[in-house]
Amino acid sequence: MNKKKMIQDFYRMKQEHEIITFLTAYDFPTAQFAEAAGLDMLLVGDSLGMCVYGYSGTNPVNMDQMIYHAQAVRRGAPNTFVIGDMPFMSYQSSVEKAVENAGRFLKEAECDAIKLEGGVRIKDKIKAIVDSGITVMGHIGLTPQSSGQLGGHKAQGRTADAARLVVEDAYAVQDAGAQMILLEAIPPEVGEFITRKLSIPVLSIGAGPHCDGQLLIVSDMIGQFQAFTPKFVKKYCNVAQVVTDAMKAYCEEVRAGKFPTEDHCYRMVKGEDEKFLNLMEEKR
Ligand code: KIV
Repeated sequence: MNKKKMIQDFYRMKQEHEIITFLTAYDFPTAQFAEAAGLDMLLVGDSLGMCVYGYSGTNPVNMDQMIYHAQAVRRGAPNTFVIGDMPFMSYQSSVEKAVENAGRFLKEAECDAIKLEGGVRIKDKIKAIVDSGITVMGHIGLTPQSSGQLGGHKAQGRTADAARLVVEDAYAVQDAGAQMILLEAIPPEVGEFITRKLSIPVLSIGAGPHCDGQLLIVSDMIGQFQAFTPKFVKKYCNVAQVVTDAMKAYCEEVRAGKFPTEDHCYRMVKGEDEKFLNLMEEKR
């Protein structure tokens, strides 16, 4: 059984240059697979809006949906560090709402930490959540909840001025007390700079190989999500193909009368089959 890693382990890993492995998970079986595979941390991301519910973005997801999925992941991965992702409008409107909703992830789903999107402009929310005793992961660079303002799901920090703004966000997140930060879709030079400058563990999803750990969306890396594939994704298998092929084979066998076979049938208790037929004969 894995020994569950805690936040102190991630600080040690940063210092010792041991890379942190990180994936999203949205359900019980995937969480079980991830724990068996030895992942260091799991994110119950609001990307489940697209990957599980089929929304065109993450913004329709609400707190109750996040809690149900976080509970399932917690049950599947009891010995893995699980982070609950604050959905759109669960923290933006007030500090009180931010603290209350962050607390729900710990109280109702036994998460180890929460994640929220934004840098300078949500410093007050990060500080209030941390002050209430909750471990926080910041998330800057491409922040999908505000992709409308960013002009879509586009890489950030690609000019010197834009990169400076990303760095300012990174410092703001650390200064507000967050214990970890996630960088999404920024050039590797910027990812490396932030990783060197910050004392907290820096996780990357599309921020290059020099960060303290790597995250992918599980539905992307197993080839399940098919709408689009971001540049930073590597597919390690093609679940969509495997499952579609299996379903086609099932249909073919059912239509051809090849399934079910004897092997898939329950047998009557010895001698009872004949009794049963006699009984039915009498009833006629
Ligand atoms: O919801 C999510 O999975 C995320 C990743 C895109 C980082 O926030």
